[in-house]
Amino acid sequence: MRSKVTVVGAGNVGATLGQRVAERDYADVVLVDVIPDMPQGKALDILEAGPVLGYDSLVIGANGYDETAGSDVVVITSGIARKPGMSRDDLIRTNQGIVTQVTREIVSRSPNAILICVTNPLDAMVQLTWKVSGFPKNRVIGMAGVLDTARFRAFIAQELGVSVRDVQAYVLGGHGDTMVPLARLSSVAGVPLPNLIPAERLEQIVQRTRDGGAEIVQLLKTGSAYYAPSASVLQMVDSIILDKKMIMPCSVYLEGEYGINGLYVGVPAKLGAKGVEEIIQLDLTETERAALQKSADAVKELIGVMGI
Ligand code: APR
Repeated sequence: MRSKVTVVGAGNVGATLGQRVAERDYADVVLVDVIPDMPQGKALDILEAGPVLGYDSLVIGANGYDETAGSDVVVITSGIARKPGMSRDDLIRTNQGIVTQVTREIVSRSPNAILICVTNPLDAMVQLTWKVSGFPKNRVIGMAGVLDTARFRAFIAQELGVSVRDVQAYVLGGHGDTMVPLARLSSVAGVPLPNLIPAERLEQIVQRTRDGGAEIVQLLKTGSAYYAPSASVLQMVDSIILDKKMIMPCSVYLEGEYGINGLYVGVPAKLGAKGVEEIIQLDLTETERAALQKSADAVKELIGVMGI
């Protein structure tokens, strides 16, 4: 039987992800959105590309959840972006309402699914998803680190004029100002990054990585990034559905790892058929550990705003 991947929120990230998953040809896809007819229209459009590109994935759109029943992986992208005049806390509470409702609908019909949360503020929303779902921690994961790392790798490859495939890098911590790009443990064809790029220039690249989302927002004017975010979720879905056991930075529930307890924070994890199959513990310096702790504190503060 083919696997089933549901994407809730058929906006920019969700619909592009739906397209990318359909093109992989290993799963049927369900797109869900509150906007009447919109997910149905996008799903039909993606389905009709199948004969041209050669995939047989069934793609359907829905405004309800019955079609999502028995999903193997569910990706939550539903939410709203911050509007002018809206405070950060108002945004959190609005997305809290959306993610809570969506998670309840999903878990009642797909009790064995693995949930991937994409809605911002990411680390707080994935903690909420985990709490509302009642699922074990290995089956609720947040997407942030793959995207942040992809941005870091793209900038490094450009800087050095090498293939992105030769750049190994890690970005840990929360998705946002407190992210922790680990230049020390990043390398190009095995050569540590600090040996290749002068410290001052490296710091500029690290800062550009931190501001990666904002740079795109500024250029697009309306809306935020979705090509790289959807590609990043796809890599997680690939590793789960195909049981590839790839190691990538994800927001996962920590219980003592890295000295952090009871919080979702971005660290390297092995993803396979069971979801998070292992949390990889890197040897961090005191400064790196402190930066990760700062990230964790920021997540804790947002969780406080949600009152969960
Ligand atoms: N149920 C289902 N879908 C919903 C709900 C809901 N309760 N509320 C909103 N949506 C839908 C919207 O109708 C919209 O189509 O979620 C979709 C979000 O899509 P976009 O606005 O295009 O946002 P996108 O750029 O895709 O980003 C999605 O990812 O990066 C994060 O912060 C970003 O939370 C945002 C998410």
